[in-house]
Amino acid sequence: MSRAVMVQASPSLALVKYWGKRDERRNLPATPSLAVTLGGVHTRTRITLSEADRVFVGGQEQDRERFASFFEALRRRLRTEARFRAESLNSFPTAAGLASSSSGFAALAVGCTRAAGGVLSSRELSALARIGSASAARAVFGGFTLLPAGARYARPLFPEQHWPELRIVVVVVSTQAKALTSREAMRATRSSSPFYRAWLVSSGRLLARALEALERSDIELLGLCARLSYSRMHAALLAAEPPELYWLPATVAVIRECAALRAKGIGAWETIDAGPQVKILCLEPDAPAVVQSLRELEPGLRTILCRPGPGPVVEEEEE
Ligand code: PMV
Repeated sequence: MSRAVMVQASPSLALVKYWGKRDERRNLPATPSLAVTLGGVHTRTRITLSEADRVFVGGQEQDRERFASFFEALRRRLRTEARFRAESLNSFPTAAGLASSSSGFAALAVGCTRAAGGVLSSRELSALARIGSASAARAVFGGFTLLPAGARYARPLFPEQHWPELRIVVVVVSTQAKALTSREAMRATRSSSPFYRAWLVSSGRLLARALEALERSDIELLGLCARLSYSRMHAALLAAEPPELYWLPATVAVIRECAALRAKGIGAWETIDAGPQVKILCLEPDAPAVVQSLRELEPGLRTILCRPGPGPVVEEEEE
């Protein structure tokens, strides 16, 4: 009897961003990243053993090349010949800068290992997920995580209960998949941005400040670090050849709205990944005012209220 495994995993939102690869073949990050796993949004993936590796996201078959190195590494590590079929659904827009690859590869690493009857430590699962997507190394854990520069695996820093009042408002500015993948954009930044070196140096310094902020649950300092990190990442990309900008007019409108809220004494600090979406850090008492202000800014703008969330959860079904 073959087994089907269902895994639910949440995306990893970087507060200090990973952007650039130290080793492209092994997919090792050039900068350290500090992240929170988001409770409130998830990927659900059903995995069965199959004749060939096939991955479907929202019913659409994915490019096999994108997953080949991941599945090869998985088989080597588990010493198996097994092939996998994965059917995945995201509760949020896919490939649009909402970190679907982090939850997607974390779910795959955990689910395929279980479906093949293997057992791996969380460190090994993190290293495996990293082969697909470096941010996925973090999504193997819940709560707050760190992926050091050049590291093979992430490590959990604090559990999700560390900061119960922290909220993250995900603002869905566009549901369109991005034209430029993060892999391509990182390559362009590294190979042609004159600011790349400065980006690498400043990331290490920023990490130290952000870690201190997280330890003390200091939202003002963490919010500032998050804003500095995404601004510098996008500035480096904007200076690449050709210049690239992921933002839409509504992205800028939300950045400005956060500044206006802060000026009124409502704590709202934005961060942006490889896409037009904005994620806003705030504390629980301010969350309703933040959501309300976005509704007034642009009726119809979708917001999802998240909090620090758990790592992947596995359910098994007999077939
Ligand atoms: O893991 P990737 O290849 O999807 O890249 C993620 C890059 C950012 O989301 C922009 C930053 C991060 O650390 O998650």
